[in-house]
Amino acid sequence: MTLPADIIVSAQGLSRSFGDIAAVRNVDLAIGKGEIFGLVGPDGAGKTTTMRMLAGVLSPDAGQIFLDGIDVVRAPEHAKPHISYMPQRFGLYEDLTVLENIFFYAELFGIPASVRRTRSAELLSAAAMAPFSKRLAGRLSGGMKQKLGLVCALIHAPDVLLLDEPTTGVDPVSRREFWEILYRLRESGVTIVFSTAYMDEAERCSRLALMNAGEIRHCDTPDRLKRAMPGALLSVTAVDVRGAFDALKGVPGVLGKLMMGDRVNVRVDDARRREPELREALARQAIAAEVGSIEPSIEDVFVALLGKGQAT
Ligand SMILES: Nc1ncnc2c1ncn2[C@@H]1O[C@H](COP(=O)(O)OP(=O)(O)OP(=O)(O)O)[C@@H](O)[C@H]1O
Ligand SMILES: [Mg+2]
Repeated sequence: MTLPADIIVSAQGLSRSFGDIAAVRNVDLAIGKGEIFGLVGPDGAGKTTTMRMLAGVLSPDAGQIFLDGIDVVRAPEHAKPHISYMPQRFGLYEDLTVLENIFFYAELFGIPASVRRTRSAELLSAAAMAPFSKRLAGRLSGGMKQKLGLVCALIHAPDVLLLDEPTTGVDPVSRREFWEILYRLRESGVTIVFSTAYMDEAERCSRLALMNAGEIRHCDTPDRLKRAMPGALLSVTAVDVRGAFDALKGVPGVLGKLMMGDRVNVRVDDARRREPELREALARQAIAAEVGSIEPSIEDVFVALLGKGQAT
């Protein structure tokens, strides 16, 4: 793993349990200035618990966190002016307008009234939400609510933005707008830690930490993670995709299979050797299918590295 040169957030040996549940186990992190760092993992992997500790709102049982030299565990109040944390269920006041919500958060962070107006106008315009400033938050669409959450989280100009699944339930167009805002923030030097269950979003991060059962299993750039995937990928496209999937059961060299709409992504030990063998296996069972080599996506890597997906 290559580490970024200019580290802004670091954690060592971070652990936290809830009763018998070890939510986060011995997590190390080193996040560079200006990164969009993705925490990716299935439900219950420990993403939210990690985020809450980084934000200084939950104490770890063990481990250290530093933000630009500030000890987040011992002095969270010193770290807070530099951090903004948008929880998975962000608290907007539904019976307040968009602008009133922003002003509420501005006041919470002690932003002077003069700065509050200009900054909220800038942020609303960047989020393409200026026309809705007088709308009640409760009347906004899901995507707009998330954008408003982001605007509120940005009102005190944090150095580090922690976003816990901010785009869950948001439509693809709004998600794209959300990402445009994130890229612009990064250009202005903000570091973003982002958790997501969407694999296309994972591809957009500068580096990814793949989490499972409280541990970071792999951490690298999306490209390097792809290269680290054991084996190679073949795609099997078939009308009877379920039939093709079943026909590949027990075929030698098949390490894993992932159903993807009209095709099956098949991870094999050796693509060149297995490609004709897969064709033969399918033909033997009278399944009309096309077999070809493809590049893995982060989803394939995720499934392979975390040992998910159906084995043969
Ligand atoms: N306050 C709590 N009390 C008890 N158990 C908790 C608490 N918070 C988290 N857990 C448990 O810790 C584990 C990790 O939870 P966490 O919320 O960090 O996962 P996550 O990766 O954010 O999941 P999701 O994708 O569902 O948001 C889970 O087993 C969860 O049930
Ligand atoms: Mg969570």
